[in-house]
Amino acid sequence: MNPKNLVGLIGWPIEHSLSPAMHNEAFRILGLDSWVYVSLPVQHNNIKEAIFGLKALCFKGANITIPYKEVVVPYLDKLSEDAKIIEAVNTIVIDEKGLLIGHNTDHAGFIKDLADNAVEISKKNILVLGAGGAAKAICYGLLHNGAQNLMILNRTKNKSDELAHTLRYKFNTSHIQSIEKYAHADLVINCTSVGLDKTSQAMPWDKNISFNKNQIVYDTIYNPYETPLLAFAKSCGAKTINGLGMLINQAALAFELWTQHKAPIKDMQKIAYAKLNIK
Ligand code: ATR
Repeated sequence: MNPKNLVGLIGWPIEHSLSPAMHNEAFRILGLDSWVYVSLPVQHNNIKEAIFGLKALCFKGANITIPYKEVVVPYLDKLSEDAKIIEAVNTIVIDEKGLLIGHNTDHAGFIKDLADNAVEISKKNILVLGAGGAAKAICYGLLHNGAQNLMILNRTKNKSDELAHTLRYKFNTSHIQSIEKYAHADLVINCTSVGLDKTSQAMPWDKNISFNKNQIVYDTIYNPYETPLLAFAKSCGAKTINGLGMLINQAALAFELWTQHKAPIKDMQKIAYAKLNIK
């Protein structure tokens, strides 16, 4: 029997992730019978051992999610050029020599989703909420694709200061600011984890500040399908987009890095929609 080609998802918590269903469906559709995608919930003090364990267990790769996209970086052997700039990894490929190569497919997945939703970025004022691994990938995607006016707002201001400073240097532009209060923007993107907890109505936004119909609010969270932030933005008349398209796109790109096969993205989308009971 052929050895299994194992890939998996490392994060905490991950029980509600759609990734195992999407990838296993893609393997099935393409007849890649030796491939299996497994959930690998890893608690905080075990992340280093988990990453080295991938190598020991002959995995072909992994996805990395909250809260480990940045902390895994020192344990990898190499980074792709974009992951090096972003300093965060959502996909690991383990090559024939057993080297762990870190990639980031979040930014391209996000940019493709903006294009699919006909969102133009070059002339917009853009506000990114958050300064963690997701925010870093989104800022990279925006700047790499022509964004010219970027503000970053984070609960811990020194993290957004540092991110804005690094991005100004890496992209050689002065149009990136770390701000300390909510500000008006044409496009607001939530990259914080606020909204993930379905039992809470918390938003990474002040309810006293309204949105309008000319604004677009993007939430990188997709489960719940409509976060309190998106519900509020919609009630104000803004256009809203959740992170499901980004999730599916980043998964398709990771799939292609592991298998070298074109991802059956429509089938991956279909199963993700079914899992979320979306018609
Ligand atoms: P990820 O890799 O998904 O970006 P992360 O690196 O843990 O995850 O980043 C989470 C982001 O959500 C951070 O910007 C965090 O703000 P801090 O830098 O201040 O920790 C933000 N965040 C998490 N909980 C928050 C909360 N209750 N209110 C506001 N921001 C929050």
